[in-house]
Amino acid sequence: MTCNTLEGKTVVLGITGGIAAYKAADMVSRLKKLGACVHVIMTRNAVRFITPLTLQTLSQNRVVVDMFEQPHYWEIDHISLAQKADLMVIAPASANIIGKIANGIADDMLSTTVMATKAHVIIAPAMNTNMYHNPFFQQNLNKLKESGFTVVEPGEGRLACGDCGKGRLQDINVIIDTILNFFKTRQDYKGTNALVTAGPTREPIDPVRFITNHSSGKMGYAIAEAFAQRGARVKLITGPTHLDPPQGAEVIRIQRAREMLDRVMEHFPWADVVVKAAAVSDYRPREEMVHKLKKHHQRLEIPLVKNPDILMELGRIKGDKKLIGFAAETDNVKEYARRKLLEKNIDMIVANNVTAKDAGFYSDTNKVSIIFANGKELDLPNMPKRKLAHIILDEIKTL
Ligand code: CTP
Repeated sequence: MTCNTLEGKTVVLGITGGIAAYKAADMVSRLKKLGACVHVIMTRNAVRFITPLTLQTLSQNRVVVDMFEQPHYWEIDHISLAQKADLMVIAPASANIIGKIANGIADDMLSTTVMATKAHVIIAPAMNTNMYHNPFFQQNLNKLKESGFTVVEPGEGRLACGDCGKGRLQDINVIIDTILNFFKTRQDYKGTNALVTAGPTREPIDPVRFITNHSSGKMGYAIAEAFAQRGARVKLITGPTHLDPPQGAEVIRIQRAREMLDRVMEHFPWADVVVKAAAVSDYRPREEMVHKLKKHHQRLEIPLVKNPDILMELGRIKGDKKLIGFAAETDNVKEYARRKLLEKNIDMIVANNVTAKDAGFYSDTNKVSIIFANGKELDLPNMPKRKLAHIILDEIKTL
């Protein structure tokens, strides 16, 4: 589905107790206008902030609060709502409901329905900023992210309680966009196992120093995220980065190129498609000092030895797996990329000039050419890495 409508889609909206609950009325009204069939489940505390009658009037469906009340329609119970849902949205989601979901507790209509549904769940937390930053809450929220829930992070600003900081319910427009995006995204990688590498590697000189490069990991993380959004099972093998783990991906962290090689080889048999976006250090110090190197030398030379070329190794054993590489260049971009494609025996290479404006390592955007083993070449304009990730996935489909 590519149009901006929710016609024919059933959205089950869970509302929990918090001052932002009143904003759910606007959300129901917007979802209805987009054509969705909306069913609302409220927690007992949500009812203190906004009346079920308001949401019933807007959704044109009976609002469910109590698990054990007599159903007015035979099909309205937690199982039928769980089955009916094409998507579940919890907004605002309190720390309490997030804690319950993360720990497998189902003691009211909303938590029971979340547990019973196979539909995707979008969570928009809203709470006091100290609660939001509480480490136990963050652990629970991370559990949900790692299990594939989409979290619409709260906004920052002055909260109803008077505190300032992160915690207020994200703008309804952003939540609605996230819902629309979910339905727009095709699940065309369902059943595919995707192995992605990202970030730099670190090659230790001694316990305090290392050789690395400028890779931020953004491109690889965007690819892992796009695979997960489109239904793939994803393993992301990553060097050190400052990025949040992509939702729905299993993250395997490494430091050295040789560790990346070991992990890649371990998971290669599992993978149907491998995207090597990592910027692997080509060299490492010949020796890794056990103790800190002292500065009594006037001149210091550190001998380097070559690291294994992971992609080259994979090219030798690729079989019918799809293998995609990147080429980070500063000059003769396409020529070098073509050469790498051939030498490494891969299906497709994404070439970028890492010195170009608004592209390369730290940028959120990138400008690339995609070169295929069959000779096809595609020059793409500058665009956000997240968008580019989806285009790369579209092209992988054509291989
Ligand atoms: N690559 C790899 N192992 C290495 C070096 C690179 O797997 N030791 C992979 C990268 O992940 C990327 C591709 O090979 O997908 C090309 O990497 P790049 O750094 O552009 O080129 P190199 O092969 O290292 O060649 P050069 O440094 O000479 O440009």
